Amino acid sequence: MKESVDTLFVGISELVTLQEGPERGGVRGAELDQAEVVRDGAIAVREGRIVATGTTEALMKVYEAPKPRDLRGLVVLPGFVDAHTHPVFGETREGEFHLRCRGADYVEIAKQGGGILSSVRSLRAISEERLLGLVEKRLRGFLALGTTSIEGKSGYGLSLESELKSLRALQKASLETGLTVSPTFLGAHEVPPEFREDPDAYVDLLCEEMLEAARPLADSCDAFIESHVFGLDQGRRIFQKADSLGYRIRAHVDELSPLGGTELAVELGAASADHLLYLSEEGLERLAASETTAVLLPGTSFFLGKDRYAPGRRLADARALVALATDFNPGSCYTQSLPMIATLACLHFAFSPAECLNAMTRNAAYSLGLDAERGTLHPGKAADFAAFDLPSFAGLGYRFGDNSCVLTVKDGAIVHEVSP
Ligand code: NIG
Ligand code: FE
Repeated sequence: MKESVDTLFVGISELVTLQEGPERGGVRGAELDQAEVVRDGAIAVREGRIVATGTTEALMKVYEAPKPRDLRGLVVLPGFVDAHTHPVFGETREGEFHLRCRGADYVEIAKQGGGILSSVRSLRAISEERLLGLVEKRLRGFLALGTTSIEGKSGYGLSLESELKSLRALQKASLETGLTVSPTFLGAHEVPPEFREDPDAYVDLLCEEMLEAARPLADSCDAFIESHVFGLDQGRRIFQKADSLGYRIRAHVDELSPLGGTELAVELGAASADHLLYLSEEGLERLAASETTAVLLPGTSFFLGKDRYAPGRRLADARALVALATDFNPGSCYTQSLPMIATLACLHFAFSPAECLNAMTRNAAYSLGLDAERGTLHPGKAADFAAFDLPSFAGLGYRFGDNSCVLTVKDGAIVHEVSP
């Protein structure tokens, strides 16, 4: 008698489960570069969870399902986990992109009231219902690209009311679409217009009121630590208060100048330090020796037209925990595609397909505290995976600029499918 399961996916040309590595936690160094390929692979799913993975031959002997699903010609990978996104915004900013293409500078645009502040005006003006519609559409966009979990930040409201509106929209959109969202409160994304003369008063408001009020809707707290936004002392105040409220800490650091935000993040035991373009030697050593995940966002360097990228190779070689993420946002990186980010990581960090995959699945999940349930295809974990039209697993990074994802399975259900 065969054991019955809900679904049996068979005939997978190349299946990568990441099962040879640890079930939980992140991987570093040589382990980051491990990803075994099963040829003619199969996956058995019951009640939204992985029952078993292996070869088609082996699984067909043990399991039966009403209608086995043939994934011949496709590469199947664990669902991607995007550890850094800003999906809650109103209008897009394509005008600003073209200004930058003609020489305008990102920080100059921000100082003149454009950039994040233009997104703040638009977010404050939009109704919660319309915002929800936009966020839902974006979350479906992630699923269609093979991403099954994201970290999603607020941060374009910068008032208690509009930050809560953002976090509620994110929570509802997650429920509507099924995409797993780890919500982050980014009230410290920029100094809001009404506090330009007295930024410390906004830090007071964050620490005395906003952080506590947002806590029921957010797991993590983030801040943009940069000389023209929040300084190190302000960042320390915000993060210490956040820590006392039980938030995990994530931080935008050393993105545009070498301020030392990474050292602060590591000192405070942050879950992640993100961007890192201007990471100091000291910061690199401390980060590599810590449990703080280095979240690399090469799409932002690319989209801002910069020559500078974070020292991704050096971080990986120094045995840092590294994750790759999109930084999806309307200003500095308007893409939701992790395969596109893999291409940039191959080119600029010399990452292998295995390094890319571990960085955009298990390590990302670990930095979000989702690793017990997601990030690899170990039996018992959620059946979150995606099938790609790639020549082989090595096609991750190789194919870019279009969508190779033809099927996404989220908690055992097909949530995206391209008809053949
Ligand atoms: O991660 N660095 C700060 N925040 C975003 C940009 C946001 C925007 O320009 O709207 C980032 O790059
Ligand atoms: Fe960001």
